[in-house]
Amino acid sequence: MSRYLITSALPYVNGPVHIGHLAGAYLPADIFVRYLRAKGEDVLFICGSDEHGVPITLRARKEGITPQQLVDKYHGIVKKSFEDFGISFDFYHRTSDPLHHKTASDFFTTLYDKKVFVEEVSEQYFDEEANMFLADRYITGTCPNCGNPNAYGDQCEKCGKSLSPADLINPHSQLSGKPPIKKKTKHWYLPLDKMQQEWLEAWIRSKEGEWKSNVFGQCKSWLDQGLQPRAVTRDLDWGVKVPLPDTEGKVLYVWFDAPIGYISSTKAYFENGQTSNIKPQTIGWKDYWCNKDSKLIHFIGKDNIVFHCIIFPAMLKAHGDFILPENVPANEFLNLEGEKISTSRNWAVWLNEYLEDFPGKQDVLRYVLCSTFPENKDNDFTWKDFQTRNNSELVAILGNFVNRTLVLTQNYFGGKVPQHGKPNERDQECIAAIQQAKKLISENIEKYKFREAQQALMDLARAGNKYLAETEPWKTIKTDEAQTATILYIALEVTTYLALLMEPFLPNTASKLNRMLNLEKTDWKNATGQILKAGHVLGAAELLFEKIEDEIIEKQIAKLNATKINQQAGMVSADEPKASDFIPTAIGKETTFDEFGKMDLRIATILEAERVPKTDKLLKLKIDLGFEQRTIVSGIAHCFEPEKIIGQQVTIIANLAPRKIKGIESKGMILMAEDADGKLKFVMPSEKINNGSTVK
Ligand code: MF3
Ligand code: ZN
Repeated sequence: MSRYLITSALPYVNGPVHIGHLAGAYLPADIFVRYLRAKGEDVLFICGSDEHGVPITLRARKEGITPQQLVDKYHGIVKKSFEDFGISFDFYHRTSDPLHHKTASDFFTTLYDKKVFVEEVSEQYFDEEANMFLADRYITGTCPNCGNPNAYGDQCEKCGKSLSPADLINPHSQLSGKPPIKKKTKHWYLPLDKMQQEWLEAWIRSKEGEWKSNVFGQCKSWLDQGLQPRAVTRDLDWGVKVPLPDTEGKVLYVWFDAPIGYISSTKAYFENGQTSNIKPQTIGWKDYWCNKDSKLIHFIGKDNIVFHCIIFPAMLKAHGDFILPENVPANEFLNLEGEKISTSRNWAVWLNEYLEDFPGKQDVLRYVLCSTFPENKDNDFTWKDFQTRNNSELVAILGNFVNRTLVLTQNYFGGKVPQHGKPNERDQECIAAIQQAKKLISENIEKYKFREAQQALMDLARAGNKYLAETEPWKTIKTDEAQTATILYIALEVTTYLALLMEPFLPNTASKLNRMLNLEKTDWKNATGQILKAGHVLGAAELLFEKIEDEIIEKQIAKLNATKINQQAGMVSADEPKASDFIPTAIGKETTFDEFGKMDLRIATILEAERVPKTDKLLKLKIDLGFEQRTIVSGIAHCFEPEKIIGQQVTIIANLAPRKIKGIESKGMILMAEDADGKLKFVMPSEKINNGSTVK
C-alpha cells in the first residue's frame, strides 16, 4: 500500500467556481483519488479556500463589504457546490482560519531564522491620501504597449502584456484616483536564482519524461530564462501578518501563504478528528508531509505551474522538514463555446448554477468535462457537445446496455442471476473485454490520461452492446434457455464491472447501478474474475440517464448570449473596480472607410416595448424604419421603463445578421452611449427626422 497526499489548487473565493476550474484542478483530482481509494490505498485529499490576495480586497471594496465578509460569503458557496457536485475532499479548509495563519507564520519564521531570505529596500508606489502602498492591481495607467488607459500595474487586459507598475504611463491610484508617489519599503525575497544553481534546476530536470510535457515545458522555459529572487511579503493589510518586529502593514504574499494552506488543511483534518478514510497505522499530518514514503501530488490549472513546480518546492526544501511533490499533473485551459472563460465578463458556466439548472445530473457534467479535459492543450466546452455526449453516449450506449441487460434478466429469469454454462468463443471474447477495460482504465488513470481512461469505460459498454446484438438473447430464449442464461450472465458481469469501473468517473451512477444490482460496492483489488453468483436477486431496474432535449440546451445557450448582449451594452460588472471619476476607454484599432461603409446605420422610431419574460435586462422592441417594421431585442431593460421609450427615435445598425435571443428573432442593434455610471443613453438625431434616414 502506498500513501498519497493529493491536493487541488485552493480556489480564490472572490466568486463561485466554474467549469474551467473543475476541468483544471478538481475533477481530475477527484477521479484520481476515487481510483486510489477503490484500490485500497492510503490517500488524503486536501483543499480549501484561498482567502487572501488583492483580488479579494478589490472585490470586497467593490461590493462595499469587508474582505472577511466577502470570503465568508463565497467560501460557503464554493464549499457547498463542491460537496453537491461530489468532489470528495477529505478536508476543505480556509486560509483565513487562525490555524492557517499560525502555520504560515511559523513557516516564514523558520525560513527567516535559517537566513534563507534576502532583505531588500526598494521604491514602491504609495498613495498619500489613502496612506497605503499600492499593490499592482491598485494602480492603473496607460499601457505602454497598446495605449489602453485602464491597464493594471501587473497586466494590461486589453493587449495581454504583463507589466510592472513602473511601466505604466500616468499611473494613478485606484483608491484616491491621484497619481501615487514613490516611497521606500523593505521586503523579504526568496533567492530563487541561488536555489536554481544549488539544486532546483537539477531536481526539475530529473522530472523530464515523468511530468507531463506541458508542465515540464513551462518549467524548463522558466529555468532557461533564469530564475529571479521573488518577494514573499507585501505592503497590505489583508493576509497573514509578517511575524517580525516593526512590520506593521506588511503581510505574506498570497502565493507564499496559500500553498502552505495545503499543510494547514491537513493539520485541520486531523485536529477535527475526521478519520473516515484514515488507515489505523496513520498517526497524523506529518505522515503525509514529512515521510519520504508519502507521495505528494498537486492538481492545478496551467496558470499555477510556476508556483507549484518551482516556488513552493523551493519553500519546502528551504524549510527542511517536508517532502517535495512527486508530480504536478496540471491541465491547460478549458474554453467555452470557442471563447476564453472569463469571470469578469461572466462568460462561464458556474457550478452552483449548473447544479440548480440540472438537478441530479452531476454525472453528466462530470462525464462531458472528463471527455474534454484540456490534458495537453486547451480544449472547448460547448452545450451542443454536452447534449450529444449525454444523448448518444450516456443514454444510447451505457444506459441502453445496462437497461437491456436488466430488463431481459427480469423477463426471462425473474430478476435472478442465471446459472451460466460453458462459455463459447464469442462469450470468451466478451469476458476478456472486461479485464482489458479494467487494465486500460488503471494504466491511463495512473498516467493522468483521464480521457482515455473514461473512453475505455465507455468501450466496455460498447462491447456489451455488441455482444447482445450478436448473440441475440431475445431470439435464443425461444430455442435454448441454457445458452440465454450464459449470455445474460455474462452481460450481467459486464454490468457489475461497469459499476465498479465507473465509480471514479460517475460516482452517483455507480451507486445507483449497485442498487439496481443489489450489490455492495465491489472491491477493485479482488475484482479479477467472476463476481456474480447464480441465484443472486437483483434490485429494480431504473433508467440510468435521460435524454436532454433541444430546448434545455437552447436555454443555456441563450443565457450565455444574453451575457454577450449585456456586454455590448457594457453592463456586466467587471471583477475589478472602475475609478469613480469618468475614465474614457481607449480609442479602438484603426479602421477604414470601406469597413465603416459596410455598416448600414438608420434612424427608426420605437413603436412598442416590453420586457422579455424571465430576464432582467432584455427588452423586446418593435421599431419603425419607415419602409418596414421589425423586432429588436436589446439589453437595456435596466436603464429604461418600456412604456417611457415609446415614440423615441433611435439609431440602429440595420444590416446586422439576425439572431435569436430567448427564442425571439432580433434584426439589428440599437446604438447606445454609456455614461460613467454604466447608464445607457440613446444615440439620436438632434431633431426628429424621417424614419429610415441613413446615418453617415
Ligand atoms: N488561488 C489560486 C488560483 O485560483 C490557487 C492557489 S493554489 C495554492 O489561481 F497552492 F496556492 F494554494
Ligand atoms: Zn495594452
